[in-house]
Amino acid sequence: MALFKREPAQRQAQVDFSRLPRHIAIIMDGNGRWAKRRGLPRTAGHAAGAENFRTIATYCKEIGIEYLTVYAFSTENWKRPAEEVSAIMGLLKKYLLEAIGRMERDRVKMRFFGDLTALDQELQDLCRRTEEISRRYEGCQVDICLNYGGRDELLQAARALARDCVAGELDPGALTEADLERHLFSAGVPDPDLVIRPSGEIRLSNFLLWQAAYAEFYFTDVLWPDFSKEELHRALAAYQSRSRRFGGV
Ligand code: IPE
Ligand code: IPE
Ligand code: MG
Repeated sequence: MALFKREPAQRQAQVDFSRLPRHIAIIMDGNGRWAKRRGLPRTAGHAAGAENFRTIATYCKEIGIEYLTVYAFSTENWKRPAEEVSAIMGLLKKYLLEAIGRMERDRVKMRFFGDLTALDQELQDLCRRTEEISRRYEGCQVDICLNYGGRDELLQAARALARDCVAGELDPGALTEADLERHLFSAGVPDPDLVIRPSGEIRLSNFLLWQAAYAEFYFTDVLWPDFSKEELHRALAAYQSRSRRFGGV
């Protein structure tokens, strides 16, 4: 008799599609290592990661996920070599141009979370145009975090609240969580139920610090470009096996 049970890696995950999380958030990490393992430049990993984003976002819409939030570029990612940053920005532009072209067919509603003012004008315009076109679509909303940082988001919300208080519109002693949430990029979006991080790192890296307060976490060694629908099924099955208590019993 075996002393412990090992899950065969290929085992099909059992997902109950009638009990899916409303909101999934993904830290799309591991592009660089994916490329390195294949002897390719890191940018090839980012291209593969962007392609996989298309696959997973389309699939999430298909199975009826209401919100998908993905981490594409953090406020800390500017520390990378200039050539890598500009390659990522170039890929984003290419991706958005294609997305705009496919919009009528895909009908995915896209929004951007983050300080877009630091991006070049062309990319800012593309983000705005994408949001503009997709505003009229119903169904799955995909939020792309671009130059996003959880601390930066909270700091700008704190500034906005301070301004409201100084203007006499709000009473500092009576501020509520809802007042703060109104100033987050995610205003109006329910908190993520499930946060997924591929690539083997077990950390948040400044992602959705406020919103993930009661999220379930799923970590896997699989690198983002290899994170397939089947891997998503594994994450969903793990999520469905958890007991969410929110501090209760
Ligand atoms: C995630 O992949 C993409 C961005 C952070 C822009 P990485 O580029 O961080 O890949 P690894 O972690 O180096 O493998
Ligand atoms: C987090 O990944 C940011 C994105 C995936 C966009 P990083 O690769 O930047 O995170 P660290 O540096 O490993 O914490
Ligand atoms: Mg990384």
